[in-house]
Amino acid sequence: MLEFPSSHPTDRLYDGFGRLHRSLRISVTDRCNIRCFYCMPPGPLNFLPRNEILTYEEIVRVVRVATRLGIHKLRITGGEPLVRSEVWQLIDRLVGIEGVEEVALTTNGMLLAEQASQLRQAGLGRINISLDTLREEVFESISRRKGLDRVLEGIAAAQDAGFTKIRLNALSIRGLTEDDIVPLAAYAFERGMELRFIEFMPLDAEAKWDSAQVLSGSAVRAVIEEAYGPLLPVSRQDASQPAVDYRFADRPGRIGFINPVSEPFCNHCDRLRLTAEGQIRNCLFSTQEWDVRSLLRDRTVNDAELAKQFVTAVAEKKAGHGIESPEFLRPERAMYQIGG
Ligand code: 5AD
Ligand code: SF4
Repeated sequence: MLEFPSSHPTDRLYDGFGRLHRSLRISVTDRCNIRCFYCMPPGPLNFLPRNEILTYEEIVRVVRVATRLGIHKLRITGGEPLVRSEVWQLIDRLVGIEGVEEVALTTNGMLLAEQASQLRQAGLGRINISLDTLREEVFESISRRKGLDRVLEGIAAAQDAGFTKIRLNALSIRGLTEDDIVPLAAYAFERGMELRFIEFMPLDAEAKWDSAQVLSGSAVRAVIEEAYGPLLPVSRQDASQPAVDYRFADRPGRIGFINPVSEPFCNHCDRLRLTAEGQIRNCLFSTQEWDVRSLLRDRTVNDAELAKQFVTAVAEKKAGHGIESPEFLRPERAMYQIGG
């Protein structure tokens, strides 16, 4: 029988490039209540059947194992995590696990108005809400659904529930969202929320991504600077953060840029992913997965063997995604099947 690794630092999740892994993104469902073109196909979809998705019990066990290997930040993702029933129950349990320092959530905001106070009570620390536009017609062309008003209600509800760490994530698409840049910044500044612009990555389900659609972070930054004056970089508190954050010299407001395409940040990556059906991925773009579901469901398998899957996944992590390289291979899964 395998020994469970001790908590000695050398047994932690270092990969072959010296990167220590401390964050785990947990997808709780592949379902979503909207259909953003950069993530999902228009439909019809074959979502995972219930029994192929990890139960909350199983996720808790995986997290207990992962924290003993040095994971201390968790982020709940989907699909859309709030469509899974009572996800606050899971968050409540995760917050109580020894070694867990922060539990965050990434959501499209559609169901936040109903759930914000339960999430807050459960101990959720941070919420990232996707908001690419403030124009309903653009929202509909991105998400193929109506509902911008619900998202905005969700954002207000999160603030009312007492969340102070709320960040808006705006995916920029060339030819579509240029006119949203300044209004989004104004919206975030007025409400004291952080805003991050994200570049479009080749993770759309229909594989229609084209580099010409990527509106780079530097192009977005130029638009902001024209409207508000020069941005000054904020020194990074955490090198593993994918964003480069900026502030203004003479006015409040903070803006970040996540530029995975134009400026890959793989060098400092500390993230692992767990898909809804219990596969570990060591990168958004990994073409390989390490199964934990079948181990979890095999009564003869102990925690040490689960831990070994994490150690192996980390050991085999590649240096970077290589989107810019001619040999780049898209992963078979789209964003909604991975968890953003
Ligand atoms: N490229 C970049 N970001 C993406 N997201 C979804 N699909 C993509 C993609 N193809 C992001 C959304 C959302 C989060 C869930 O994942 O912006 O904020
Ligand atoms: Fe749903 Fe998020 Fe994918 Fe949009 S990006 S379809 S909100 S899972």
